[in-house]
Amino acid sequence: MADAPSVNPLHHQPAGFSDRVALGFTKLLRFCADTFFAKRYGHRAVVLETVAAVPGMVGATINHLKCLRRMCDDRGWIKTLMDEAENERMHLMTFIEVAKPTLFERFVIVAVQWVFYLFFFMLYLVSSKTAHRVVGYFEEEAVISYTHYLAEIDEGRSPNVPAPELAKRYWGLPETATLRDVVLVVRADEAHHRDVNHGYANELAGLPLEAVAPCPPHVGLEPMWKTAA
Ligand SMILES: [Fe+2]
Ligand SMILES: [Fe+2]
Repeated sequence: MADAPSVNPLHHQPAGFSDRVALGFTKLLRFCADTFFAKRYGHRAVVLETVAAVPGMVGATINHLKCLRRMCDDRGWIKTLMDEAENERMHLMTFIEVAKPTLFERFVIVAVQWVFYLFFFMLYLVSSKTAHRVVGYFEEEAVISYTHYLAEIDEGRSPNVPAPELAKRYWGLPETATLRDVVLVVRADEAHHRDVNHGYANELAGLPLEAVAPCPPHVGLEPMWKTAA
């Protein structure tokens, strides 16, 4: 595949205290991830995608409950956030075919999920604007990390193995697709999440909305009741 989809390496300039807290928190977690994983990008992707799939579901849950209480329309937020959570879970299911987490990493995943789910739920209740800004900044870092992963593959330090079957089906990739093609579409997903979440934070802050990077097409897996004989 060619280099498309490429992404624009956008950075939202923090405006105000809550943006600076969101950026500082993101940089702290980036430092921890860089220290823990170094250049083990496959393992990094598996562990971090288990975290990345949390905010969308938290945001969807809280907005769903709010809309029920207020009996108001969600303007598409709930479906968008649930799609984000599902997309992140598909990233996880893809990279688990590429890198198997160690026992210690599995322990970290369980521990971090407890802490991060509760933290993010509380943050969203206190300031949904800050919560979406945090995700926007997380996704900026995800775009950077997958760009580094691409360089590792291109420079021969990570093997460009065949793309997992699940990934070919989900993103509609050709039979000959490789890990490099997968990283390109995953990075495009992350750029889309980045812009959607910065957009939600802007909307909640009363700031103008900006262009959103296009989302690569996804083919949902058929539910069991449709495939059962
Ligand atoms: Fe992801
Ligand atoms: Fe993401």
